[in-house]
Amino acid sequence: MRYDTPSLMRWNARAYDSSFGYVSAHGAPLIELLDPQPGESILDLGCGTGVLTADIAARGTRVLGMDGSSSMIEVATLQHPGLDFVVGDGANFRVGEAYDAVFSNAALHWMGRDPDAVIRCVRMALTPGGRFVAEMGGAGNCAALTSAMLTAWREYGLPEPDLPWYFPTPAEYAVRLEHGGFTVRLLEYFDRPTPLDECPGGAADWVRMFAGSLLDGVPPATVEPLLTRVNELAAPALRRESGWMADYVRLRFAAVRA
Ligand SMILES: C[S@@+](CC[C@H](N)C(=O)[O-])C[C@H]1O[C@@H](n2cnc3c(N)ncnc32)[C@H](O)[C@@H]1O
Repeated sequence: MRYDTPSLMRWNARAYDSSFGYVSAHGAPLIELLDPQPGESILDLGCGTGVLTADIAARGTRVLGMDGSSSMIEVATLQHPGLDFVVGDGANFRVGEAYDAVFSNAALHWMGRDPDAVIRCVRMALTPGGRFVAEMGGAGNCAALTSAMLTAWREYGLPEPDLPWYFPTPAEYAVRLEHGGFTVRLLEYFDRPTPLDECPGGAADWVRMFAGSLLDGVPPATVEPLLTRVNELAAPALRRESGWMADYVRLRFAAVRA
């Protein structure tokens, strides 16, 4: 049976790796922060196509990759046949054993419907003293991109799009973690301008990948001119001589189950 989390988003898992591989490519420092030890058990929440799951497994750990998208899990299973993957909703899952750590890269901001439920599930999945190490979009993430989208949608007389992301401030997320039974050991909030090297269509390509579901409500003949307008509006902030640069802002943390 195919199952997808009831979020707005459908993923094009193959295009994700070929054009948006930078997402997992930026995960190396997060794995260093996780510092996986041989023999540890680690849950990779929102694992996508499993690139980082495999990197963590290569450190001698036992890893389970979990993702809400069945197409991501299909690709992950094909690409990493020796590893375990499962479809699951980050806001509503239980695991059969307690893990030493839960890791998550670029996924928690997709689980904004109920962030406290996500933190609750993560806590229940951990052994006492277990680590929760993650990076997500923080407040202000992709502000120029989303503002270009909102303006273009308005100019075309379309209803304001319901943006599917949750980009908390560091203070807000730290409070959620503490209320959810974690001790925050490290919390970083930083700009990370990110080249869109594999996106010749610039901001429009980004919208197609990360906000594709919002295009479902747009009349087909309007989609291309709308995306062209997004590019025009975003270009002054995001287009450099070397190419497009997305205005990413990240929140990276390591917390311990109290
Ligand atoms: C930008 S991708 C990041 C994938 C991977 N961690 C990486 O670094 O390449 C975000 C992932 O979060 C997953 N996701 C979104 N909402 C989810 C949910 N409620 N539960 C589990 N996974 C979810 C998506 O399916 C997607 O694979």
